[in-house]
Amino acid sequence: MSTQQKLRLAVIGCGFFAQNHLHAWSEIPEVELIAVCDRDPARAEAARQRFGAPAAYTDVEAMLRAERLDFVDIATTMETHRALVGLAAAHGVHVIVQKPLAPSWEDCAAIVESCRAANVRLMVHENFRFQSPILAVRKAVAEGRIGTPHFAQLSFRSGYDVYSGQPYLATEKRFILIDLGIHILDVCRAIMGEAQTLYCLTQQVNPEIAGEDVATTLIRHAGGGVSIVDCSYSSRRLPELFPQTILRIEGSAGTIELLEGYRLRVTSNGAVEERDAEPVTPGWTEKPWHVVQESVLNLQRHWISAWMNGTDPETSGVDNLRTYGLVMAAYASAERGGAVVPAAPVP
Ligand SMILES: NC(=O)c1ccc[n+]([C@@H]2O[C@H](COP(=O)([O-])OP(=O)(O)OC[C@H]3O[C@@H](n4cnc5c(N)ncnc54)[C@H](O)[C@@H]3O)[C@@H](O)[C@H]2O)c1
Repeated sequence: MSTQQKLRLAVIGCGFFAQNHLHAWSEIPEVELIAVCDRDPARAEAARQRFGAPAAYTDVEAMLRAERLDFVDIATTMETHRALVGLAAAHGVHVIVQKPLAPSWEDCAAIVESCRAANVRLMVHENFRFQSPILAVRKAVAEGRIGTPHFAQLSFRSGYDVYSGQPYLATEKRFILIDLGIHILDVCRAIMGEAQTLYCLTQQVNPEIAGEDVATTLIRHAGGGVSIVDCSYSSRRLPELFPQTILRIEGSAGTIELLEGYRLRVTSNGAVEERDAEPVTPGWTEKPWHVVQESVLNLQRHWISAWMNGTDPETSGVDNLRTYGLVMAAYASAERGGAVVPAAPVP
């Protein structure tokens, strides 16, 4: 692809996690970073210098007026997403936006609708399903190695101090389900299919934060399978597993397990294979975040290939409404008690 044909990108929000977006874009030859934008001028300028962007802005609308862009990558927190996606769509600029899509279902639906109405592509940065070990699990299931899956357990249990890098997490009244559970529920959907009904119990173990930090969700899927998705940021054990998702999928012909240390064990028709599924990750990644960081690169490559093929990305806005619906149903179940049927996505 020649320089002229490169897709012209601006990254909006240059905070904690955006550094991973920016590093990953610098590895993708089809994309040219045209500008960065953060309402904090020091952050915008630091990102401009570090990643060699020609321009830095503090105002998104000013940037959209001044620059000719193909797409923006929004890495701000969720309260800003509706307004920022709306601005990009109004300028006919395609959008990637970080999870969670927005604080409410109404905002999420409005985001999806604004992109549909403006005919711009929308992908939610829902990256856990693009982690290499999880891609390996999904591939084994898709190849039929375990037959038809009927049970899954996906666990993310950690005592890692997420609050120092992301201080806003300590003050959110709704915390682990919407911040972290959303990823694990999305992976569960990607493997086990849509949820028909779910039941969730939440706990607040850490007294110093505002929201729930442990959530256990039981799901019945439309295909009849059952899953348990359990998440915790109050699990004290060594070795600390952050940010590993431990999972087990049982099917009619075998079981797939993603174990501690990224060991992948597949029992298929009575034979067992075990291998190391930890990927070799780029030099800018850093343990223990490396597998998450690499999934950012995998997700961005997916955006480019979907763009080139003219297909919807896997984690399109409409797709992500289904995952978001699981989170809302989980909160409703935890608050009211009893099982809840997740909301249907907006068509
Ligand atoms: N997918 C993942 O694995 C993952 C991991 C961590 C965080 N995240 C998500 O990334 C998002 C950002 O999180 P973070 O921890 O990097 O937050 P952060 O607060 O460190 O960074 C957000 C940045 O956006 C800027 N900003 C806010 N509003 C703006 C606006 N209107 N215009 C321009 N800039 C604006 C802020 O100044 C800040 O620098 C959140 O939605 C979070 O859930 C995702």
